[in-house]
Amino acid sequence: MKETGQFEVYVEVLRAVIIAVIFLFLLWSDRKNDLKSWDGWRYILNGFFFLTFATTIDITDNYPSLSKFYIIGPTVLEAILEKIVGYLLGSILLALGFFKFVPLIADYRREAEARRKAEEFSKNILSSVDEGFIIIDENYRILSANRAFLESAGVEFTEAVGKKCYAVSHHSEKPCYESGEECAVMHTFQTGKPHNVLHKHISSDGSPYYVEIKSYPFSRENGRVKSVIEVLNDVTEKRQLEEQLAHSQKLEAVGQLAGGIAHDFNNIVTAIMGYAKLIKKKNASIEEAKKYAEQILLVAEKANSLTKSLLIFSRKGTLEVMPISVNDIILGMSELFRVVVGRKIELETDLLDEDIMIMADKGQIEQILLNLISNAKDAMPKGGKIKIKTAFAKLGETFIKVHNLEPAERYALITVSDEGEGMDDETKARIFEPFFTTKPVGKGTGLGLSMVYGIVKQHKGYIKVESKKGIGSKFYIYFPETNEMPIGMDDSTDKFFSGNGEKILLAEDDNHIRRLMENCLTDYGYKVVVASNGNEAVKVFCENDDIELAVIDYIMPEKDGLEASKEIKKINPNVKILFLSGFSDNNIEREINDEIKNAELLTKPILPERLLNKVREILSKEKELTSLDSDKLH
Ligand SMILES: Nc1ncnc2c1ncn2[C@@H]1O[C@H](COP(=O)(O)OP(=O)(O)OP(=O)(O)O)[C@@H](O)[C@H]1O
Ligand SMILES: [Mg+2]
Repeated sequence: MKETGQFEVYVEVLRAVIIAVIFLFLLWSDRKNDLKSWDGWRYILNGFFFLTFATTIDITDNYPSLSKFYIIGPTVLEAILEKIVGYLLGSILLALGFFKFVPLIADYRREAEARRKAEEFSKNILSSVDEGFIIIDENYRILSANRAFLESAGVEFTEAVGKKCYAVSHHSEKPCYESGEECAVMHTFQTGKPHNVLHKHISSDGSPYYVEIKSYPFSRENGRVKSVIEVLNDVTEKRQLEEQLAHSQKLEAVGQLAGGIAHDFNNIVTAIMGYAKLIKKKNASIEEAKKYAEQILLVAEKANSLTKSLLIFSRKGTLEVMPISVNDIILGMSELFRVVVGRKIELETDLLDEDIMIMADKGQIEQILLNLISNAKDAMPKGGKIKIKTAFAKLGETFIKVHNLEPAERYALITVSDEGEGMDDETKARIFEPFFTTKPVGKGTGLGLSMVYGIVKQHKGYIKVESKKGIGSKFYIYFPETNEMPIGMDDSTDKFFSGNGEKILLAEDDNHIRRLMENCLTDYGYKVVVASNGNEAVKVFCENDDIELAVIDYIMPEKDGLEASKEIKKINPNVKILFLSGFSDNNIEREINDEIKNAELLTKPILPERLLNKVREILSKEKELTSLDSDKLH
């Protein structure tokens, strides 16, 4: 009995401790208030605890062994009090628990409603838009797809989900990247970043259509992309519109360009025709004919520099670079500048005493100056002053690298400044764009400064502009200085070297050029056989076994120059080849060197002296070699 009494004491103490702990916990957790949904359950569980505790108290049992632990009254009263407190606390806690749940339930309902609405919203968007959306997992299986995608692929939702994306989109058994196409999805899986590609598809009726594909990471696990969302957009119509726009812009540009140069060419052709008619006059003396021929050469030179500028503009032209003095060019053009600017404008030149030498194509530098001067003149319709200045400049190493300049100790700096209308920042940003002009139609082509830019770049120089609206503009041009000295005017360029009856095959498709070269070669002692295309060249070569040199135009109809010369070389490996080309392009030179041994290249325009001298040089080499060989034999 005593042991049972002691046990009950322990139970009673434990019970008191538990109640105290529960109270303390409730108090603490209520203050912390971070258990939220658990709150309700906590109160309810505690409420039940107190209620069961209250119901288990037996009032009839007087707990005799416990009487000494109670402070007040008899044990029955204590039991009643405990029961009342237990029921009261239990009910209060249950009620509290219930009320804690009420807002939670409301919150839950609100969240569920918001979720439902958001899902419906995205579903509605995805099914209303024209873009196809698909979600793809790591194994390239479709997890979900929207209406637009299903319609374009011509499949039902159930037919698409779970299938490989390439099987549904391309009816292919291999992933796109294995078929050589760029795969946006693979890219996103690998890099974790969005990616865009453009795919060309062929529709069932055989017409091509273009699909722009964008992929974005959709879900991740431990930083790895687990699924990707792919957005597919048919951009065929957009591309067609862009192509049409580009085409019409190109046509407009060609129209402007043609308009601009037609006028100059017309003058040139009129002058050439006029002088040629004068020569043809029966009674024109040799002296007169020579004088007219001089004039023809002068205007033809202009035509030559015009086409050269156009080629420079298209970045295909050749530069005839040599050491030249910047001051000399400016001084040499001062008369022309004065004519260009007119009487209203004052022209001031401020040139360095020391000569500045640069490696440049004289004609092109003149072109730059002429364009800058004529722009400056246009900017000053009411007159003003144009200043041309030369100076030396030093440039930093980084600057040289960044702007891809030819490294040099010093640079020649030419500045052309005016007091004209100036430019706002928007105009200034676009002036080097081809066809950008603010001048009325027929007045400006917008090619002037883009040519200037092209020429400066080809010379490994640098150009910049400063301009203020209403105040004026200043153009700065830097060219690397050279230490090479100018070559004196070589008389030999005027000398025409003759032939000794050697037979030459001349293949050129342009009738006029072919006739000119044929006349020139025949007049200077060569036997010439001609062809007007690649096939004919090979045929003519087969018919003449004593041809020593083939002069072949690089671009010709039917069979191009390179192909024709390869066949000719097969027939006779000893024959020499001289190619003629409209452009000097590193690729052409490389191609020729790769394909044909010891072939030479001459770029157009091919004037008689250049042709004759080159032909002589090639044939003499041949002779020297042959004599060396025969020396060795003896
Ligand atoms: N010195 C300048 N002052 C003010 N604006 C200029 C000056 N130089 C060029 N511009 C602006 O840059 C534009 C482009 O010049 P650019 O020389 O390329 O073509 P353009 O002069 O309009 O035509 P084109 O050279 O064929 O006659 C000009 O239309 C003009 O708006
Ligand atoms: Mg201009």
